[in-house]
Amino acid sequence: MNRKDEDGNIRRLFEPRSIAVVGASADPGKIGYKILENIHSGGYVGRIAPVNPRGGEILGLPVHENVEAVPGEVDVAVITVPAKFVRAAVEDCGRKGVKYLLVITSGFSEVGNLRGEREVVSLAREAGMRIVGPNMFGIYSAAASLNATFGPSTIRPGGVAIISQSGALGLAMIGKTYTENIGLSAICSVGNKADVDEADLLEYLVPQEETKVILIYIEGVREGERFIKALREATAVKPVIVVKSGRSARGAAAAASHTGSLAGSDRVFDAVARQCGALRAETVKDAFDWCRYVSVNPLPRGEETVIITNGGGMGVLATDACEKFGIHLYDDPEVLKNIFSPVTPEFGSTRNPVDLTGGAEAEDYDRALDAALARDDVHSVIALYCETAVFDAGKLPGMVHENYRKYREREKPVTFSLFGGESTEATVSRLSREQVPVFGDVYEAISPLGAAYACRRYRESRKEAFDVPAVDREALRGIIGPIRAEGRHFLLAGEAQKLMGISGVPVPRTRLASTLGEAVEASRDIGYPVVMKVVSRDIVHKSDAGGVALDLDNEKEVMDAYEAILQNCRTRVPGARIQGVEVAEMVKGGTEMIAGAKIDPSFGPIVMVGLGGIYVEVMKDVAFRSYPLDRGEVLSMIREIRSYPLLLGVRGESPKDIRTLVDTILLLGEMVFQCREVSDIEINPLVVYDEGRGARAVDVRVLLAKEER
Ligand code: COA
Repeated sequence: MNRKDEDGNIRRLFEPRSIAVVGASADPGKIGYKILENIHSGGYVGRIAPVNPRGGEILGLPVHENVEAVPGEVDVAVITVPAKFVRAAVEDCGRKGVKYLLVITSGFSEVGNLRGEREVVSLAREAGMRIVGPNMFGIYSAAASLNATFGPSTIRPGGVAIISQSGALGLAMIGKTYTENIGLSAICSVGNKADVDEADLLEYLVPQEETKVILIYIEGVREGERFIKALREATAVKPVIVVKSGRSARGAAAAASHTGSLAGSDRVFDAVARQCGALRAETVKDAFDWCRYVSVNPLPRGEETVIITNGGGMGVLATDACEKFGIHLYDDPEVLKNIFSPVTPEFGSTRNPVDLTGGAEAEDYDRALDAALARDDVHSVIALYCETAVFDAGKLPGMVHENYRKYREREKPVTFSLFGGESTEATVSRLSREQVPVFGDVYEAISPLGAAYACRRYRESRKEAFDVPAVDREALRGIIGPIRAEGRHFLLAGEAQKLMGISGVPVPRTRLASTLGEAVEASRDIGYPVVMKVVSRDIVHKSDAGGVALDLDNEKEVMDAYEAILQNCRTRVPGARIQGVEVAEMVKGGTEMIAGAKIDPSFGPIVMVGLGGIYVEVMKDVAFRSYPLDRGEVLSMIREIRSYPLLLGVRGESPKDIRTLVDTILLLGEMVFQCREVSDIEINPLVVYDEGRGARAVDVRVLLAKEER
């Protein structure tokens, strides 16, 4: 099967040497005409072959009766014939040896025609072709000057690549990028994702030089583990901005344990996207602003930002915005004074925001921006301009342009917010068209810098090494095998504890005793206080049967409790077969947490942590991450929950053993990751003791996968 090009990725999809339009039409109202016209008028550098059984000419191009009749090789065929003819068209392309098919046609899985879609994909694959779509709008690629879409014919080339799952929205985005002065390196819709998906497209776009930032509009993830891997690899190289809609909870409903019911799939997506270093934008507008900014600005090299302004009010607004978007302002008054006093009027301020005052002219901005540029300890600059009569408006575009150029050359990001009337707005529009990152509103200007900082911090955090505890897969299978053979998909409490024990998750010390003497001996070995529980397959609700005794402090209490348990159970569940009692360490004090791991239907292995105990469903104070992950990421997940301060110790309490909590989460993740027969593990409560004293998994629930993965 020819799944990749000679370059090892799908380059020929974006840079075809020749393209056929199957279903090309002379009727300007049809999609088959519009796509051909866009390819033709867009300056495509390769060969164009319209295909239609009618033959003749369209737009001066000779029309071929079928794909096989096209002379020379065909790298890409755009299919624009109705659904019922797609199969024949795919077969025709297969005979020709086409590499990629862009199937525009609707009427497949999106309307329930899954069979037709599968048929077309398998035909294509058998012939060594890959399919994008069906139900997609085509592709634009600046590298080949190729606009094979039925969207607008004018596209500005640039550094932003867009992958869109939505057709109409994607098409609209093409138009919108033009009016927003965003330059595109590529845009591709994935449609029904029957074959090629986001992960495949990332393979090409990540190493591609022209693409500086990737924007993904996504509704749902298929093959989540592959997507996560591709996303992680992508964000290590360039910023990836994600807009996701479709907040479906279907994935969560499919899950059986509490972990599942809390893992609304959008929450999981959100956590996973952040964990992978993707920037999730709430709106397309934010996404566009971020794209525009990060496609033409380098990421900051450090955390120190300086605001330079000619208006105090605007400076205060910018300070608020910085706090909102997580931007740190340089805060050493002495150093700031040294840097800026030579370039600030006496009645101005060298504190951050640096206030050049309302009398500032273009040259004053030049000097202040130069001073900040020269300093290695200033890592990014926000320059604010309020329109004044003193500032010669004619000099504004030049001042901004020239300073942006200098900053870019030195790889330091600079952000301009220009606020004022008609002439200022005209300058904003003009500079935006010239791909200079200027904004009108302060918040709009600072939000993209926040995104750039999020990118930088993610890259820094990736430097931490993976250090994951190992689990003994064979030993796990030794426990699970016989249970699966019985056709059972859940573990009994004792089995679950055993599974935790051999994996290294700390569980309460436990012994089975079948006589009074053994119970006393076990209690002595474990250490008082202990708890005792009846062991009987016939007694499901142990407490109701009087089969549980807690907090037993000495030998006498153990002996009395043993007799009482047997007596109670025999009376309340007559005929029950009693094997003995389980004696366990009494778990007291500590903070009750919940920790879990499961196989998410969309994202594969995920882990969770939260405040445990009986309020877990009410509080919903939980955080998720996809697994594998490193210690740093586990810690950031734990810090995300609202109850985190409880672990640090409140009101004079000692801090809790967060290290053991981290280890436990890693072990749970590793268990479902290594041993896919286990689909859900949930520990609630996981009692976390004071620092250095460990934790205990008190109640553990384990579910097994229904089918082999
Ligand atoms: N090979 C080549 N051309 C063929 C053909 C074949 N096997 N079978 C038919 N054609 C020709 C037709 O004769 C017609 O050309 P003509 O204008 O010269 O007659 C052309 O292909 C198109 O076929 P037509 O029947 O006119 O269909 P259409 O243009 O009305 O619709 C689609 C075709 C693909 C656009 C339509 O079926 C569809 O799926 N529309 C939705 C597209 C969409 O929204 N996609 C998702 C975007 S996000």
